[in-house]
Amino acid sequence: MAVAVKSVCDLLAKKQRGEKITMLTAHDAAFATLVDRAGVDLVLVGDSLGMVALGYDSTVPVTMAEMIHHARAVRRGVKNALLIGDMPFLSYQVDEKAAIANAGRFLKEAGCAAVKVEGGARIAATVAAVVRAGIPVMGHIGLTPQTAGQLGGFKVQGRDDGSAERLLHDAQALAEAGAFALVLECVPALLAQRISAAVAIPTIGIGAGPYCDGQVLVTHDLLGLFDRFVPRFAKQYAALAEQAGAALASFRDEVERGVFPAAEHSFGPLIEGKTRPADK
Ligand code: KIV
Repeated sequence: MAVAVKSVCDLLAKKQRGEKITMLTAHDAAFATLVDRAGVDLVLVGDSLGMVALGYDSTVPVTMAEMIHHARAVRRGVKNALLIGDMPFLSYQVDEKAAIANAGRFLKEAGCAAVKVEGGARIAATVAAVVRAGIPVMGHIGLTPQTAGQLGGFKVQGRDDGSAERLLHDAQALAEAGAFALVLECVPALLAQRISAAVAIPTIGIGAGPYCDGQVLVTHDLLGLFDRFVPRFAKQYAALAEQAGAALASFRDEVERGVFPAAEHSFGPLIEGKTRPADK
């Protein structure tokens, strides 16, 4: 396993050494413990929370209160990785003051090391203001789920020359604004390679091919826990929804048939007058 990342500055050093950066999402303490133990560099309390845990149809309804509540739970499970809080829709777009105040809550109330925001050149001034306030910021361009409606839906971005140039410009604007890293979501692999070469800060891809400086997945996708839809880029390393479904149905079945709880799950004899060594 690679050297532990202690601050956002270590990510730049990783890029310079050609070492890949790893990031996974967590939304509660149990998952935070699992992903942290796996040794990833970064744990993101993503606003994917809205879809995988809160049952919303998109990330748009997610609130600051929900994000802070979950980020605090994740904080309790993360011992080594750097923790990043995802700023929800309209928590940073209204004005710079609100953006700084909301970003600061992730650090002060939830113990995050940094925040992530979606958007390119048009939010660069806000990114610069938050960075000036002393808060490390990760950018997120390409497919930005909070504004997917404006992008024509959940589609690969930067396929034609014009939009590819715009994405390159977005990446440069965010880097100049002081972002310490960039998530590239649903971008053609060769464009992601171009962007990664054009900016000094690390790029972390999701559906952006193998040439990014790091990779991120939503943990629920990776584990096969979120089966409402599976994006093509999300490799499923397990099929936990299926296994969990089978385990839960076995519980119901065994209780209904009187098989569970058995003697080993009970205290004292099951029949009056009979003792078991474990009962003594
Ligand atoms: O909300 C999230 O989980 C994210 C990742 C997909 C990068 O933004």
